[in-house]
Amino acid sequence: MVNWLRMEFTNGSLKTKDMNKKDKIDLSVNFAGIKAPNPFWLASAPPTNSGYQIMKAFDAGWGGAVWKTLGMPTINVSSRYGSTNYRDTRMAGFSNIELISDRPLEDNLREMAEVKKHFPDHAVIASLMVDTRKEWEDIIKQVEDAGADGIELNFGCPHGMCERGMGSAVGQEPEVLKTIVEWVMEASNIPVITKLSPNISHIVDPGLAAVQGKTDAISLINTVKSIVGIDLDSYAPYPVVDGKGTNGGYCGPAVKPIALHMLKDLMQHPEIKNTPISGIGGIETWRDVVEFILLGATSVQVCTAVMHYGFGIVRELESGLINFMEDKGYTTIYDFAGKALPNVTDWKHLNLKSEVKAKINEDKCIGCDLCYIACDDGAHQAIAWPTDGSRIPTIIEKNCVGCNLCSLVCPVEDCITMEKFDDGTEHETWHELTESDRIPNTWNDDRAGGKGHYVPEPAEALKHKRKDKAGIK
Ligand SMILES: Cc1cc2nc3c(=O)[nH]c(=O)nc-3n(C[C@H](O)[C@H](O)[C@H](O)COP(=O)(O)O)c2cc1C
Ligand code: SF4
Ligand code: SF4
Repeated sequence: MVNWLRMEFTNGSLKTKDMNKKDKIDLSVNFAGIKAPNPFWLASAPPTNSGYQIMKAFDAGWGGAVWKTLGMPTINVSSRYGSTNYRDTRMAGFSNIELISDRPLEDNLREMAEVKKHFPDHAVIASLMVDTRKEWEDIIKQVEDAGADGIELNFGCPHGMCERGMGSAVGQEPEVLKTIVEWVMEASNIPVITKLSPNISHIVDPGLAAVQGKTDAISLINTVKSIVGIDLDSYAPYPVVDGKGTNGGYCGPAVKPIALHMLKDLMQHPEIKNTPISGIGGIETWRDVVEFILLGATSVQVCTAVMHYGFGIVRELESGLINFMEDKGYTTIYDFAGKALPNVTDWKHLNLKSEVKAKINEDKCIGCDLCYIACDDGAHQAIAWPTDGSRIPTIIEKNCVGCNLCSLVCPVEDCITMEKFDDGTEHETWHELTESDRIPNTWNDDRAGGKGHYVPEPAEALKHKRKDKAGIK
């Protein structure tokens, strides 16, 4: 069952409690001058294709919407979407080869004005993608006249539009991006958000270019250039269009780690960190929202989760965020925005003296042996499988390097926990070793593999030979 349903069913008193919490907690945001009743916005994508959908979403509880990108006339292909289904999870990753809006511009503008009439306090942002300076100036005037609260520049689409020199073709060229941001800032009377492409090795380059072009805000990420799979009959990539395919843009839960990392890179940059950032990429639950805010985002945008489960997920986002804020004593999201940033550092600043080791809770263990196999084959041979016929493994403490793998593969919640082993008094980092000219030049450090923990002799691998003897001399 998906998390947002479980949340509603397991927390019976949620509704009554929320009434009190809502009085104290203020979810409203002022994002670079764009005001909204809450930070939950729809990303520019199929859920924001029409006024009908956006009004339905606002009615369900969303605080803002970035309209499906407007620009020049386009034609779409059929089919358009592909997905990575992981075991029982459908759409763990999602891919599309769709272009910007193929609906007439005048229809979109008319509907935008109607949405603003019904929802004057909600954020309606026009995502735009055009080519020449004149086209940018013209379309900016049109969306301003339609009542848009802000503009988002789509410099991210990694398929189709980039072949015509737009979308990610701009996002990958910081100098071009900066020039267009400058054009837009000169023409626009409403706040401008520059949406970045993740299809670049150093996100700070386009981020800095946007800031130097004087953008009001940044959003990220757009989709990741990808191929989700190959059809084993037609030998074409998904989604297959008459026997052929092309790279798509990847999004959904699978891309969240990429988005969080890029958000952190921007928020830690001295020249970018004061620019508001709208976080996008794989957001599905309230926890995802909190994580993006902790890394500095002050609004979030959602696409795939809404395409999967519908606008109703905003109820779980809202109640979960309120619960979190009440538990921690926050009244606005600005009270905790960016609070995780000081804890994200370079590897060289991590404490080499800190030590954790795995511990198995025998009462919870179901004897599946996944931890034993993972540690023996994939880690450090620090789990012993019982020889007396029982099925509860034990940790060989002196071998355990505290890598976490067993606790990650264990299917039982909190059955394997990682326990602190050092007394917390010692602190030494690689940076400190470097600075004091003490970098190890032998393999003798107690923490190094072979000395610090036992490694079996190669021949021990053959003690339990495969029964069929395949491949073994
Ligand atoms: C089918 C589809 C169409 C999209 N169209 C646009 C678009 O027109 N403009 C845009 O800026 N981003 C577009 N996106 C990207 C989303 O706005 C968003 O950046 C991306 O999907 C990551 O968010 P998610 O993981 O919540 O889906 C599209 C995404 C999908 C899946
Ligand atoms: S933490 Fe790593 S080394 Fe320790 S028992 Fe688990 S898998 Fe093995
Ligand atoms: S993976 Fe967890 S449940 Fe399975 S044997 Fe190991 S400790 Fe027990």
